[in-house]
Amino acid sequence: MAAVEARDVSIYYEGQKAVEGVSFTLEEGETLLLLGPNGAGKTTLLRTVGGFHREYRGELKVFGLSPGDAGEFVVYVPQSFSLNERVPLRARDVVAMGRLYRRGFVHFRIGKALIERALEVLDFVGLSEVADKPFSELSGGQKQRVLLARALLSKPRLLLLDEPLSALDPSARADVVAVLGKIKREMGVTMMITTHDVNPLAELGDKVMLLNRRLVAFGSPDEVLRDEIIARVYGPLARAIRLEERFYCIIGDTHLHGREGR
Ligand SMILES: Nc1ncnc2c1ncn2[C@@H]1O[C@H](COP(=O)(O)OP(=O)(O)OP(=O)(O)O)[C@@H](O)[C@H]1O
Ligand SMILES: [Mg+2]
Repeated sequence: MAAVEARDVSIYYEGQKAVEGVSFTLEEGETLLLLGPNGAGKTTLLRTVGGFHREYRGELKVFGLSPGDAGEFVVYVPQSFSLNERVPLRARDVVAMGRLYRRGFVHFRIGKALIERALEVLDFVGLSEVADKPFSELSGGQKQRVLLARALLSKPRLLLLDEPLSALDPSARADVVAVLGKIKREMGVTMMITTHDVNPLAELGDKVMLLNRRLVAFGSPDEVLRDEIIARVYGPLARAIRLEERFYCIIGDTHLHGREGR
């Protein structure tokens, strides 16, 4: 059974089509890099797969279930995470809170087993030493890794990560990518990761989707990351480069060129 199977899926906001006719299959354990310019529909597709947005047509299955019914297997980590930083939460509280939210608790009661599990996942992402530090005092890369730890708390089979590298400097990016690689290898979790820049994630991608309101391309990195394909979205100066079995892109300034599908 595939982790995600989409057949001719179109997604709407109040009757207005945002994403049109997307078909793809993601097998369990695979990582998909979802690439496309602003407004391409990346977040929309991710939220629809996660069961958070229900206005779609076509067939969409997550582990053979409708997205709403697959909720217990799926964790969505949004593009921006806001936390009232005046509330003095420690890193481990932020991790444990993920589970409390899922259970729908209003008041926090963090039990011993939950604390142990939170410390375990913090260790997995390499952050044992900051478990008791206030979340607000962590670096951007550490915060993102805390959010990954929190996502792992409920042992998901599918992780939906919306731009997990945005606003991070190269060294923090490398730390986060290393954790994502560990999640993939050691836990076998299926991942869909949206990004504007495929390059830092090149080592992770089994599949690449190029989305620009419609599906421009879907396939293995060597099938999708080709000059003639990325040029359809990013203009004639876009280049795909192969370095030691991996594929990278130079896409320059997308605003200089027309975009397809507008
Ligand atoms: N809540 C909403 N209500 C109405 N339209 C929306 C809503 N969210 C997104 N859209 C529209 O859907 C389209 C796709 O938006 P989406 O946020 O999915 O793109 P994206 O690829 O994630 O862009 P970005 O790279 O900027 O994050 C856009 O035209 C956007 O205006
Ligand atoms: Mg988005």
